[in-house]
Amino acid sequence: MSQFMFVTDLDNTLVNHSTEDDKELRELNHRLSQHRQQYGSKIVYATGRSSVLYNQLAKEKNLIEPDALVVAVGTEIYINNNQTPDIEWSAQIASKWNRDIVVSITDKFDELKPQPDSEQRPFKVSFFLEESESEIILQKLDSELQKCGLNIKLIYSSGIDLDIVPQSSDKGQAMQFLRQKWKFVAERTVACGDSGNDIALFAAGDERGIIVGNARPELIQWHSVNPADNRYLAKNICSGGILEGLKHFGFLE
Ligand code: GLC
Ligand code: MG
Repeated sequence: MSQFMFVTDLDNTLVNHSTEDDKELRELNHRLSQHRQQYGSKIVYATGRSSVLYNQLAKEKNLIEPDALVVAVGTEIYINNNQTPDIEWSAQIASKWNRDIVVSITDKFDELKPQPDSEQRPFKVSFFLEESESEIILQKLDSELQKCGLNIKLIYSSGIDLDIVPQSSDKGQAMQFLRQKWKFVAERTVACGDSGNDIALFAAGDERGIIVGNARPELIQWHSVNPADNRYLAKNICSGGILEGLKHFGFLE
């Protein structure tokens, strides 16, 4: 056994919202804590939530302290429980991003319903968008935004959440930033997810990937169009699927 970097999405990946007593999560927490202590493995959470909503979930579900926290779909990285986001990362994603211009354009789309204030971040503008309207609206919106010469990207998840973020920022690029900082090779790095905003984790490079058994259709569809040997589709859901995948890749016994 040797150290590895473990990266996981939270909602419906690490955390199963349909159970109160999650035995698999408890077992996974235990195994990961032990591995970290014994071998120096790193634990990273990569979530779409803001730190406000992350803190609520961490308390509610007794999550173990990560070595780094990636929030707001990769636009903020907090290392070692720091209270301020990593400035090197913020500087890297800031080029050709202009929040005011993004907002002035999205204002013209009635179909976009703003998410709560806590989820509007310096590098993330978020809406609810009904799935039935999403295809047409996303196309229109993208072309309006491209006209302004901004380097932005649209991330649509779970048939409802739309995030607009800098092009150079997503969960996958945040993972690679940390991986390089901590000097882990891609083969000793593993990412887990269930929905659209996790695609970037699986598309980043040669990192190992675990798609949990309850993954959303948008991720499964992407996976079937872009198959890869370094990605494992688990049968079990949430933490159970993560444990299954970690054993498949030999990260855990
Ligand atoms: C979380 C965030 C929300 C985001 C979604 C998808 O639910 O709170 O702002 O849109 O993840 O990334
Ligand atoms: Mg999720």
